[in-house]
Amino acid sequence: QPPALVDRFGRRITYLRLSLSDRCDFRCIYCMPAKPGFTDREELLSLDELAAVAAAFADLGAHKIRLTGGEPLVRPGALGLIRQIAELPSLSELVLTTNGSQLERLAHPLRKAGVRRINISLDSLRPERFRALTRTGDLAKVLRGIDAAIAAGFERIKLNTVILKGRNHDEILALTRFAMAKGINLSFIEEMPFGTIGEHDRAETFYPADRIREELATELALVPTTETTGGPARYYRIQGSETRVGFISPRSHNFCKACNRVRVTADGRLLPCLGAPQSVDLRTVLRTHPGNAEKLKAAIGDAMGIKPEACDLSPGSKPIEFRHLMETGG
Ligand code: GTP
Ligand code: 5AD
Ligand code: SF4
Repeated sequence: QPPALVDRFGRRITYLRLSLSDRCDFRCIYCMPAKPGFTDREELLSLDELAAVAAAFADLGAHKIRLTGGEPLVRPGALGLIRQIAELPSLSELVLTTNGSQLERLAHPLRKAGVRRINISLDSLRPERFRALTRTGDLAKVLRGIDAAIAAGFERIKLNTVILKGRNHDEILALTRFAMAKGINLSFIEEMPFGTIGEHDRAETFYPADRIREELATELALVPTTETTGGPARYYRIQGSETRVGFISPRSHNFCKACNRVRVTADGRLLPCLGAPQSVDLRTVLRTHPGNAEKLKAAIGDAMGIKPEACDLSPGSKPIEFRHLMETGG
């Protein structure tokens, strides 16, 4: 029986969010500046180091690994690494969060490699607006990517939509109907205040999840469920449809109490909490003791001792300046 990762508050950590790259081919206005600085190549964990981190977590009882970014699929060699991670015997779920830009080409190989579920970001169905929100994204290409993912037969596909007041809140119903028509799920995410990113003013764009739900409920019969995908979303069924609508509301409903996850950035920092500045430098451990799984697991165990009880992302809280979501994949 592998030793479990348990923090000081008795929470079992069974879910690793592993970032393969802080780079992205999009520049979403709420995520990064128009001209972001990315981590230098040599500071990134190598593919072998990423595989070692995944294996150590699996050994320590993490049964779910979600690959994130930036955009995970822009990392050269991502597919080979994914094949390798998928073979870890104690892992029951290998899942991926992507912006969809590479899926037309990669959906089938990813499914074949062993990725079970996939979450695809989609904030608008209007090409010009999609371009404005992502700065560089091509909606038609992402939509072809979504279709490729559906054709590839993932067990579950979920669209992720960040709603911004005045930018895309008028598409809540249209995006939901799109998911229903495609027979896939959809989560609405409250925008989180990570990093100052130039002209975009988060105080003006915050749109609470309850409001999204109330708006949907005027058109669709939403039935609450106790279903979970192991992440923070609360899911509702839509009567007469297979589609589940999720709400991820870190600002309006704190979910730290049920936290089961930690993150590792592409440069090898283990972040015990998304909203707290602490980190454990796994890269130094990997490079000082190459191939030493015990040292790596000990460092991961140490992080349990510094995982905070909660972080505050409530609407009145101060913006978090020490972190961008591009380094953690959310
Ligand atoms: P599944 O439940 O496996 O589908 O995954 P998920 O919804 O947790 O993962 P995904 O990568 O699709 O993330 C969706 C949104 O949830 C992103 O905006 C993440 O930043 C956010 N999120 C995931 N975990 C946390 C968390 O621990 N804290 C906060 N504040 N946000 C989180
Ligand atoms: N607040 C909320 N969600 C964000 N994402 C990126 N930045 C933020 C933010 N500041 C989302 C992306 C993607 C998911 C992984 O995280 O849109 O859907
Ligand atoms: Fe890229 Fe995702 Fe950030 Fe958009 S939100 S810039 S797709 S990492």
